[in-house]
Amino acid sequence: MEPKRAQWGSKVGFILAAAGSAVGLGNIWKFPGKAFEGGGGAYILIYLAIVLLIGIPVMLSELTIGRAAQANAVDSFEKLRHPGFKWVGWIGVIVAFIITSYYAHVGGWVLRYVAGYATESGKIYADPLGYFYGLLGYNAATGETWFPLTAIIFGAIFMAATCYIIIKGVEDGIERFNKFGMPALFIILIILLVRALTMPGAAEGLSYMLIPDWSKVTFSTVLSALGQAFFSLSLGMSIMITYGSYLKKEENLTKNTVIICGMDTLVALIAGFIIVPAVFATLGAEGVGKGAGFAFSSLAGVFQQMPGGQIFGILFYLLLLFAALTSCISLLEGVVAFVTERFGWKRTATTVILGIIMFIIGCVYTCSQAAFDIKGIWFDFKNGFTTPIFGDFMEFLTDRLLIPISALGACLFVGWAWKPQNAIREIEMDGKPFGLKGAYSFLVKYLAPICIIVIIVASFATGTTLS
Ligand code: PHE
Repeated sequence: MEPKRAQWGSKVGFILAAAGSAVGLGNIWKFPGKAFEGGGGAYILIYLAIVLLIGIPVMLSELTIGRAAQANAVDSFEKLRHPGFKWVGWIGVIVAFIITSYYAHVGGWVLRYVAGYATESGKIYADPLGYFYGLLGYNAATGETWFPLTAIIFGAIFMAATCYIIIKGVEDGIERFNKFGMPALFIILIILLVRALTMPGAAEGLSYMLIPDWSKVTFSTVLSALGQAFFSLSLGMSIMITYGSYLKKEENLTKNTVIICGMDTLVALIAGFIIVPAVFATLGAEGVGKGAGFAFSSLAGVFQQMPGGQIFGILFYLLLLFAALTSCISLLEGVVAFVTERFGWKRTATTVILGIIMFIIGCVYTCSQAAFDIKGIWFDFKNGFTTPIFGDFMEFLTDRLLIPISALGACLFVGWAWKPQNAIREIEMDGKPFGLKGAYSFLVKYLAPICIIVIIVASFATGTTLS
């Protein structure tokens, strides 16, 4: 008899954990910059349409697969009697592995900024970009580089915190942390939103975000919004399958999907309505989307110019810290769940070993920053994650190729192999009829796969950044 699988302790616990996975650096850093670039309101409308027509059906499919199979992402397909689809889970686990290794380091940088605003905001204001480069072991003025010890130490702290919560388990660790972290994140967001919108000059930024400017929209804007939606909703990464597998049969999958996607999108929108107006107010339209290091350097200008800026600076980075931590936990959990179940390893040992391996791999990313010029920094506000050595390659591999392929696999599995009627039967296990059966079947069989294939083909053809 198999040991009993972990389960979420409460409904709200699951929702917060899944939303915690989705809400991350992608929402707060990437989305506002992309929205600015893609014509403000126009990008927002495109993004909303994508979440509705593709994001929601794909997430519902992943959660349903996990719950039906009650297994990790790889074994789920076997349990549902289509072992031929195991590769979907494998890709997800591999992508989660790769992303965790750098995500934890970036989380460490964010943690450094919380401490930095608390203790030496003057230093950050004096030379925002220099401060950021300094953290990564680079002096732009002299060209000098060094081993970025501080960044590595903070990365280690972040990874250790992630591992600690995972070791505590699904209910006591992941669920409990998210129950505290997610509400804290919403409170901080609202405070920052009020602050940003009441700054003199914010109105211009606000109207930019509200009034669609279609002249900036191109085919690649749409592609980029699709990629952003997948990344932001944590799709194609084995995570929603794993989280779905901890769900009880009486939970309402459709409602949960809509709530999670809604929360993720809401946070992205609020972040956009904080950052763009605040930057318009302090730095003018020119200040937005200035490329490399934007999130670290231009935002310093924003905090410097607002009364009580130091406090808001600390709050902002705390917000990012929560968001990054809850996402990183989910990434690591996807891999840990797979390794513990498949190889029968103990949860604690698996977490520690994987955490250490991923952390060491991530050190390569952090250390490689210093050897390059401004262009290569990960948080290029315009282009998303772009690392100099591995960045372009890794990003291509994960965001443009593997994530869409894994999401495509989930759609093809539900649409054509397992069949929508089986998914619908699983969805209706809670006893409530699923009203949108026809629409769901159509989206998962045709629309979502076709759109995903277009992304994959087009990204090869155009080389568009899709992160
Ligand atoms: N969705 C998270 C974000 O927007 C990132 C993430 C990706 C988390 C993949 C888990 C898995 O930042």
